Amino acid sequence: MPEKIVLAYSGGLDTSVAAHWLRVERGYEVHCLTVDLGALGDVEGARRRSTEAGAASIDVVDAREDFLRYFVFPALQANVIYEGRYPLATALGRPLIAKLLVDKARAIGATAVAHGCTGKGNDQVRLDVGVQTLAPDLAIVGTTREHSISRDEALTYAAKHGISVRQTLASPYSTDENLWGRSVEAGVLEDPWLAPPEDVFEWTKPLDQTPAKPVVVEIRFEQGIPVALDGEPLGPVALVERLNALGGEHGIGRIDMIENRLVGIKSREIYESPAAVILLEAHQILEQLTLTKQQVRFKDRVGQEYADLVYNGLWFTSHHRDLAQYVTSTQRHVTGDVKLRLWHGTIMVQGRRAEKSLYSQQLATYNKEGDLFDQSHAQGFIKLHGLQAQIQAHRQMLTEPGDLLRLASPE
Ligand code: ARG
Repeated sequence: MPEKIVLAYSGGLDTSVAAHWLRVERGYEVHCLTVDLGALGDVEGARRRSTEAGAASIDVVDAREDFLRYFVFPALQANVIYEGRYPLATALGRPLIAKLLVDKARAIGATAVAHGCTGKGNDQVRLDVGVQTLAPDLAIVGTTREHSISRDEALTYAAKHGISVRQTLASPYSTDENLWGRSVEAGVLEDPWLAPPEDVFEWTKPLDQTPAKPVVVEIRFEQGIPVALDGEPLGPVALVERLNALGGEHGIGRIDMIENRLVGIKSREIYESPAAVILLEAHQILEQLTLTKQQVRFKDRVGQEYADLVYNGLWFTSHHRDLAQYVTSTQRHVTGDVKLRLWHGTIMVQGRRAEKSLYSQQLATYNKEGDLFDQSHAQGFIKLHGLQAQIQAHRQMLTEPGDLLRLASPE
């Protein structure tokens, strides 16, 4: 009896070739697992190709809601953004795929799992670490790592073994998609001096084709989770889908960056993440209203730690749980509405309100009427605030008149 292996299967060229290879070259009984995180293309084609490749079974699992509820929204609450730009769509999907691979392996008594991630990327790390954490006894086969072939060789391999691949599957780019965003790498994008050609983008319109008129969208959050658009309560999938469409229409969410991979490489990445960019902006706007200065600042540092942890594939850890507990606790009063204007690739806040807002117009106002801020308190406060600066300047720094002019110059 051949041993069983569960293959993370996208249905495309590479994983179809991988399914065939695992069976013929490695002698496995191959069971495909296709995880729908919201960007599933041609399911019928995927099923057909898995059969043509000789897989024993294929499972298509709709994990969209779990993805948003347990992976994306907690990351949104933490304002997770990698290196100032990337909302981590691909990275957030991997631990869930790892978990589903393990579930399926357990269900059918497989001894191994497989994926087709390149040996130069982060995704292999995230899947391997996830699987190895949840099920250390399972073997992990990285088909591309172990049997690296070019795009052309893969096409020839598929043709030779009767796996039907439409030419369109052979895109010049390496892409990954889910509800939180689309990642594009490789091809001409490898030259960081070249502007991305328009065919890189699929979700967002170029700015010269976006509507002349702006749109205003009102987003409601409850404890840091988005729950309604324009007053209409929506489940996670519908809400994110709608914002992806709306943002894409207005050219929002295009990101072009050089990022630092865990394996040391700097890589040029293009992302399209309309819903993520809009929701991250809205969420932070609501936090400005509902968290104190100390909370916002400390939470920002936690968010960066959280982002690194997600990027580096350490989802299933106590460090993650501990950070998440802190973040959840901060969200108690992050309930309210944010109004945003979307226009030609820009997001501009139009208004915000919260039931437990910390903003007080009676303190902030420059009008005399209703002013609750006692300005006589300011003088003494400022005296004490500047006390050490004052003493230091006179005892240590002011040796010659004019000295302090060059305070920040290097010599
Ligand atoms: N660089 C991004 C990340 O590490 C995106 C990876 C894209 N994956 C892909 N298969 N094209 O999360």
